[in-house]
Amino acid sequence: MEIARSKKAGESLTWNDMQRMKYSWNVLLEVMRLVPPLQGTFRVATTDITYEGFTIPEGWKIYWTVSSTNNDPEIFREPEKFDPTRFESEIPPFLNVPFGGGPRICPGKDFAKLQMLIYLHYAVTFFKWELINNVNPPKVPASMHPLPSEGFRVRLERCSQ
Ligand code: HEM
Repeated sequence: MEIARSKKAGESLTWNDMQRMKYSWNVLLEVMRLVPPLQGTFRVATTDITYEGFTIPEGWKIYWTVSSTNNDPEIFREPEKFDPTRFESEIPPFLNVPFGGGPRICPGKDFAKLQMLIYLHYAVTFFKWELINNVNPPKVPASMHPLPSEGFRVRLERCSQ
């Protein structure tokens, strides 16, 4: 809202504005923590790996999931609660991984961040929202990407800005 207020009518967002959208980015991180857009992907063990008493033999396929750490109460207190402020403190690496990690980390992550921030900015500053089918909590079938089974229908009303 602070960024929106600093703009003249019709003035576009700038790169500098994008750098300042810290709260919006924390909101998006929190959304992706609760509902990861991609659940995880596969790796192949290049050597025998022993972790907590279990051995994964070389050559085995491994499925890693975003939610294993994103819902861990030891890392994220009250994990079921929507709280963007939790990202105001530094999260140690590899604990919040909506874009994966390591050499195969999502190459589109900065582009995605930019798109999401721009979308969110205009969606909340130019429109009033009303959820039409308010199913709480929404049913989200397990699949590659989370899509509410009954859709996510919203009535938008243009604000004066
Ligand atoms: C919110 C948006 C997005 C999310 C949450 C996301 C998430 C991910 C995740 C979790 C992976 C797997 C990373 C790994 O294996 O460690 C991945 C891979 C990938 N993503 Fe994204 N992604 C997003 C947007 C995009 C966009 C906008 C592009 C392209 C413009 C993109 C292109 C790719 C590609 C090409 C890979 C495969 C990389 C590889 O295997 O080397 N993604 N993404």
